Amino acid sequence: MKSISFTRMQDGTSAEYEFLDGLEIQYAKGLPARIEAALEKLEESLSGYQISRLEHSLQSATRAHRDARSVDYVVAALIHDIGDELAPYSHSELAASILRPYVDEKLYWIIKTHGVFQMYYYGEQMGLDKNTRERYRDNPWFDEAVEFCERYDENCFDPAYQSEPLTFFRPMLQEVFTRDPAFGERAAP
Ligand SMILES: [Fe+2]
Ligand SMILES: [Fe+2]
Repeated sequence: MKSISFTRMQDGTSAEYEFLDGLEIQYAKGLPARIEAALEKLEESLSGYQISRLEHSLQSATRAHRDARSVDYVVAALIHDIGDELAPYSHSELAASILRPYVDEKLYWIIKTHGVFQMYYYGEQMGLDKNTRERYRDNPWFDEAVEFCERYDENCFDPAYQSEPLTFFRPMLQEVFTRDPAFGERAAP
């Protein structure tokens, strides 16, 4: 079979769906490379800072790695702002969605809410409520979300910091994003 013949999904046969499933699995194997390419594009994103979004991401991941964080955590740090290009007003959710099938619920949640937690450090200067994160105060992962921003985000705009290059993280991207995905198991809605 080269391609399926249906024009409405409801008309597809099991053989056709088996064929498509095989191609989808094959396609998913290229995910680490596609994520790396998307990260490279962050070199051209948001201007005005002293370092690019890619450099910020590398600094975040490098600091996490040097603190002996898990591979999952380092990868989460590396891609936490990957949504800046396509989701300027919901970038945290975009990164969290990419991670969701591959990491545990806590890490998914930390990345999903990092935008709100990050406001603590600049909200006042922008006339926003810096304490918006308080809405999550009762969450058992609150302190770890604070920690993520404090150690691996709000402080990662330093042009003097020596980060590892993107290629350093390639094996980690490979490890996390070629795992068997868990849909709705690792991360609840
Ligand atoms: Fe962010
Ligand atoms: Fe960030």
